[in-house]
Formats: sequence, C-alpha cells, structure tokens
Amino acid sequence: MPVISRRNLLCSGAALSASSLVAQSAWGRVAALMAGYPGAASAEAQAAVAPREQLLFDFGWKFQFGHGSDPARDLGFGYGQGDFAKTGDFAFSKAKFDDSKWRKLNLPHDWAVELPFVRDEEQQSHGYKPLGRRYPETSVGWYRREFEIPASDLGRRIAVEFDGAFRDVLIFVNGCFIGRNDNGYAPFRFDLTDFLSYGEKNYIVARVDASFGDGWFYEGAGIYRHVWLTKTDALHLGKWESTVQTAVSGGSATLTLGTVVQNEGKQAESARVSWQILDAAGKTVATAEAAPQSIAVDESASFTAGARLANPALWSVDAPNLYSAIVTVEAAGKVRDAERVSFGVRTAVFDADKGFFLNGKALKIQGTCNHQDHAGVGAAVPDRLQWFRLGVLREMGCNAVRTSHNMPTPEWVEGCDRMGMMMMCETRQMSSSPESLAQLEVMIKRYRNSPSIILWSIGNEEGHLQEDQAEQGAKIAATMVRRAHELDPTRVVSAAVNGSNKKGVSDAFDIIGFNYNLQFPDEYHKENPKRSIYGSETSSAISTRGVYTTDPLRNTVNAYNSVVPWGETAEEWWTFYGTREWEAGGFAWTGFDYRGEPTPYGWPSINSQFGIVDMCGFPKDTFYYYKSWWGAEPVLHLFPHWNFEGREGDEIPVWVYSNLDEVELFVNGKSLGSQKVPRLGHVEWKAKYEPGVIEARGSQYGSGGGQVVLTEKRETTGPAVAIRLTADRTEIDADGEDVAILKVEALDKEGRAVPTASNFIGFKVSGDGALIGVGNGDPNCQESDKEPKRSLFNGLAQVIVQSTRRDGEIHIEAVKEGWDGPELTPAKLAIKTKKVEPRPAVG
Ligand code: GAL
Repeated sequence: MPVISRRNLLCSGAALSASSLVAQSAWGRVAALMAGYPGAASAEAQAAVAPREQLLFDFGWKFQFGHGSDPARDLGFGYGQGDFAKTGDFAFSKAKFDDSKWRKLNLPHDWAVELPFVRDEEQQSHGYKPLGRRYPETSVGWYRREFEIPASDLGRRIAVEFDGAFRDVLIFVNGCFIGRNDNGYAPFRFDLTDFLSYGEKNYIVARVDASFGDGWFYEGAGIYRHVWLTKTDALHLGKWESTVQTAVSGGSATLTLGTVVQNEGKQAESARVSWQILDAAGKTVATAEAAPQSIAVDESASFTAGARLANPALWSVDAPNLYSAIVTVEAAGKVRDAERVSFGVRTAVFDADKGFFLNGKALKIQGTCNHQDHAGVGAAVPDRLQWFRLGVLREMGCNAVRTSHNMPTPEWVEGCDRMGMMMMCETRQMSSSPESLAQLEVMIKRYRNSPSIILWSIGNEEGHLQEDQAEQGAKIAATMVRRAHELDPTRVVSAAVNGSNKKGVSDAFDIIGFNYNLQFPDEYHKENPKRSIYGSETSSAISTRGVYTTDPLRNTVNAYNSVVPWGETAEEWWTFYGTREWEAGGFAWTGFDYRGEPTPYGWPSINSQFGIVDMCGFPKDTFYYYKSWWGAEPVLHLFPHWNFEGREGDEIPVWVYSNLDEVELFVNGKSLGSQKVPRLGHVEWKAKYEPGVIEARGSQYGSGGGQVVLTEKRETTGPAVAIRLTADRTEIDADGEDVAILKVEALDKEGRAVPTASNFIGFKVSGDGALIGVGNGDPNCQESDKEPKRSLFNGLAQVIVQSTRRDGEIHIEAVKEGWDGPELTPAKLAIKTKKVEPRPAVG
C-alpha cells in the first residue's frame, strides 16, 4: 500500500533494546548454510558453453552525473534538435572523447544509495533520496567504457546484455545510438555486431535516467545488475528459447525439450540440435536429438525432442536437486553454439480443497515478500549477498519468497533454485500494453526452467482494475494470463489482490491471492469451492529491532505485536492461513526491511519497519515466532534484553516464542510460573525490572512428564569496553566480486554483547579488498552507507567488504570513532582471499 502520510497506530508493549546473543547464533547458522555455496558462479556464467562466450562486463567503467534538465550539464545531449539526425554522430561514444575526469567504478552500481538524504515528503517512498524530475542534478548518470574486440570475432554475433538497470537507458556504441530501455527491472540486450570495430578499441556509453520511478519503494539508480557481452556463431540458439518441461509419473520423469535456432549467417544451414542431460554430479543421465532442419538466412526454426529420466532426484525445499541440459547446435560438422540450462524435476500442484502439494506432499507456503535492496549497497547487491539474504530467510523456516513487486535479479532466482526456496515471481506492470507484455514475456522466458518458481504473478494491488475500471481489468488480466500460459503451460498464474477478488482482474487467474483482508478468504472459498486460495501478501507487522517501546518522538515501534491498521501480527495471519487445510499458505510483508515506505512514521525514518529482519539481516524478535512454527527444530526465544537501567521496579512484558510444550520464567532465580505454549502462539509474563538475569526454561512433554530441553538467558550487562568483529566467512574468493559480511558488536568487560550499545565505530580496511557498504538496521539512521564508519544500533552494525582479483588478505580494524564516548578496545579481523579462476570477463 503506498503510504505517503504518517499513519496512526494501535501499538502495545514496553521498553527498549536487542538480543544479540540470539542474533549471533542465527548468524553462525546462516554462515554454515552459505558454506557450500559456489563463488560468483551465476546462472549466466553457467549458461555459456563453448564455443559461445559469455563475458562479465562489470569491471572498469567510468561514471559521471549528467543533468535531467540542462543539456549543457548533460554532455550537451539534446542541446539542439539534431542529436539523432545522422547515424554515427554521438561524440561521447567515440575514441576522442575525454573521460579522464570521470569516476572509475565497477558494476553493479547504485548511485542512489550514495546520495545524501533530503527532507522532502514526496521523496519518502524513495527513502528520501533526491531522485526524480525535481532533482535533475542527481537523477541522470552516464556510464562509459572502452573495450577491445579481437579481429578474430569478425563474423560472430556480439550482444551486450543488461540484467536490469534503473531506469530509462539509452545505449550508444562507437558514435551510434543503439537502443533504449524503459523500465527498471526487466533485462534488455542489443546486438552490436554491425557497430563494432574488430581488432580495435570500441566505446560503449549508457545514459541512465532515474527521473521516473516504477514503484512506491526504494528502487535505486543506475546499472545495478550485471552486464554481459556475449559472442556466438551466426548460427545460434535463440535467447531464452531453450526449455525443459518435466512430467513425473511413477518412478520416472519425461522431459520435453525445446529450443529455437536462428540463422544470422550468409547461407542456409542444415542444423542439428542435441541435448545432454547431466545430474548434479555432472554425470550424463540422458541424451536426446531433434531431427535436423534446414534454416534459411535470417530465419529461425524450432526444435523439440523428448527424454526420460529413470528414478529422478526430485527438486524439493529439503533436497533442491538440480539437473542441467547442455543444448548444442551443430551444422556442417561443427558445433556452432551451446548453452547450459539448469532445471529441476518436481511437481507443484495447488488444490482447492487441500492447499499446495510439492511432489505430491502437502506443504504450506511459508513465504515472505521482499524488495531487493540491502544495507550499505542499496540495489547493487553482490551475488553472495543475495544468497546470504536467502540464507537468513531460510534460517527462520521461510520456504518461499515473492519477488514483490518486480522481476527479480537472476542470482536471487538461482539462489532459490539451489537452496530449495520456492518463489512467486512477479512482473512490475499489470497491463497488456506492448511494454508491459514485453516485461511479462521476458520474465517468463528468462526463468521458466527454474524449479523454484511455483507461480507467476502478473501484478499487485491494481485498485482501478479491480474496482472502477473493472471491465478493463478483466480484459487486461485475461490477455496477460493467456500469454503466460502460452509461454509456460506448466505453471499457474495469479496476482496479489487487495480486495474481495469478486470482480475485475480475478476471473482470469488460475489461483486466487488475497492481500490482507482476512474477512474475505472464507467467504470466497465457500462461494468458489473449486478455486485455490493463498495469501499473496499478509501481515505488515512492524517493529524496530531491539526496541521495546513505541515512541513516536523517536520513530520507534515496539518489537512485541505492533501492526499497521490494515495488517495482522505474525500470530494472527499465520493462525489464519496455517490452520485452514484449503489455504495454500502465504507471503508475509516483508522478510527484510527495505529503504523507503518508512511506515508508520516519516522523516527522519528512511526505511521500512515491516521486516522480520532488519536492513542488514539481523533478526528482530518475530523472526523466532516464525522459526518456532515454520521450522522443524526446537526453538526457545526470550525477549526483551535485560538492560533497563533507570527503570527499576517497572513492569516489563517478557515474551517467549517457542514450539516447546511449556516454558517457565525465572527472574534472578525466582520462578514467575510456568505456562503451556499455545499452538501457533506465544507465552508472556510481566516482570518487575531489577538488574540481573532472566531465564526461560522450555520443556517438552515426554512419557515421563515434562523435561527441560532448552534454556535461554538475558543478563544485565555492564557498559561497552571492547569491540568484537565476526564475519560470515573468513575466506572468500579473490574474484573481485565475492564479499564477506561482518558483524560488529560491543562487549562489556565480561565479554557479553551489550544489547543497547550505540557506540560510533570506525573501520580501517586495507589489503586485497575494499569496504563497499555499512549499515546498522536502524530505520532512523541517516549516516552514510558508504563511509567507513557507523554507529551501532542496539548493539549491532554490519560491514561488507569485497575482494579484489588479487589473492591475499583483507584486514579490517574496528576502532572507536570520534572524541566523545568511552574508550573501546579495538578489534581486528583478517579475511583470506583465495585464488580462483574468476569468471570470464571483458578485459
Ligand atoms: C501493500 C503493498 C506493499 C506495501 C505494503 C505495506 O498494500 O502491496 O507494496 O506497500 O502494503 O503495508
């Protein structure tokens, strides 16, 4: 819900701070989850098989701001009438242009996160960043790069491919205008073959204009996803045309294989297409071949074949088994093009009576919606950090993500495929206009082989199309659903609807999604017993990590049970969706906090408080509600912390999230009583504050009565005297892309993390890496994301360091910053960067 104004809230609860001990244990487990992950081996890199080359085009760019309204400050672009009059006239994309004063940077890059905050309520959604037509100085950026194309490439097809950029992009190469892109999330590509100089230097320029937004949340600015240069034979596979559809029956799977071959060469070719199916260990488990076809010049042809897998290793959330198909085109006795398509074998069925089934087994969708920005880096999230984010969600038992409200980054999808995270994949615009249909098409083509995706969403909360323009809505949705089915007959199509689903867009959907509004699904189910239902967006509970009082003067929200007026607490929505057999489950708004939409407050809040984890991925307390009821293992989480100096004698609500049978609470050794944990609920006490220790003892009923299986304590700590640095991994790849994610804490003299610490810490980073961002999860913190310093927020901050391509070590030292505040013993950490074969990149 786009929220511009401050909303009044019904909140309850008391007092302030965080439980870093718990954050730490979850942290360690996320690190463990990530340990088996490959380095920067993205889906794109894997897709390239010789003779095709797929070169990462991220390194060595130059950048400079342009101007949204003054051509004199925009490289003279648009100064007069004639910019596009003659082909080849754009001097800024020719050799002579001087970019020596431009800033050097690598992609992905988000310049919005580097900008200062502006106090302008219109910019609230964008996280108070100065972007838009009223901020011409900071809304246009120019990227430029020189690159060589060897003479031996003559005759090949060469294309530049962007995974996505924000937002309106004009591409120029060697003086020529090449093309444009007008949305912030879909990938786009241009064939450069005719424009390149072979055996010489070439120049590419991108003018990126972020004046217009696509959404009502932080969207970043610039080339925030990867760029690639691909080189293929003139006889080549069509982009995203290779499909592997699987059907499971009995103990085997039938594969329907398809692709398209294009002939952009000078003569007709007789092409043969073959498939080699590999299991996860790289062993060939099946092969197939299509009948050869002759393809005339400038024509293309479709090829299909079938294969069978005996006893396939199914893809599931617990065992995300993947296969690959190597698709090869041969002609005139030579391999001309090939690519690797990753896929999984699984069935995903929505049933109107019984909910959702993965591989024939009932499974509730325990999902979260997420935007795509992170602390420190904004929308330019390194691949490893994408996977880290998924790991955090996975750790709380989340088994599905919704890519609200736009087409995701490839690495997020790849992470879901590899980690066993299901996905509702959503396009940005609900419209059957050519642009919107093109976005939908590219999304489906790009990701239709990904086993993680269980449903396509054609949009979110289109009020007009559901209400006053319902007739229009019905037609638009029908066209989009039809097109989605044509491109992918294997998946259901839906959308996130805020309303009754009784008119407008909903008729066209295969399954029905409800956003909020728990009053609607029961009635809808009764009236439409044949339609499957799920919660496309739920909750919108809000909390500030480690804060236990709602304070409108400080823009904080207590971590117990606060919620916006249109939302539901975790307990409310999950008790609803988790207990109705016919409900497939749902997606909570949101997994991570995100910039923009600072609901329920405005300035100085610059990010949302909807997250179950904060902008850095540090868990809020609700994380453990979900972990209790979504996960399989015993959980006992006690909050708040026990550092309430000055509030001696006050009654403090003490809560426990647990899936054990009974919990007893002790304050300084005295029992406050034992309580049975209600299913899908929590237990709470009121405890008079006195410094010391609170302890929860959780027991499970066995045959011989209750037995304590988990205990958890919160101790009153002393003041911070030292800094502690820990990293998710202490060895990363020296590929110029990999990152280590560091946690910064303050310890008291007994070595206990201080959950209320707010010390200002500086970071000295040296050696074979660089700091690329900092954060602390405070929705009200306007400190820079890029400078090497940050205050702790309720005991925690995050530093992200990235390797260079030289192996060695990155040294990070954390020291007290500034003059005031108590002395702190510094902390040091070394991250090894190990030699790896970096993925192929443009030199
Ligand atoms: C929803 C909307 C989300 C977000 C959320 C906040 O209605 O789909 O994008 O704005 O409200 O509660």
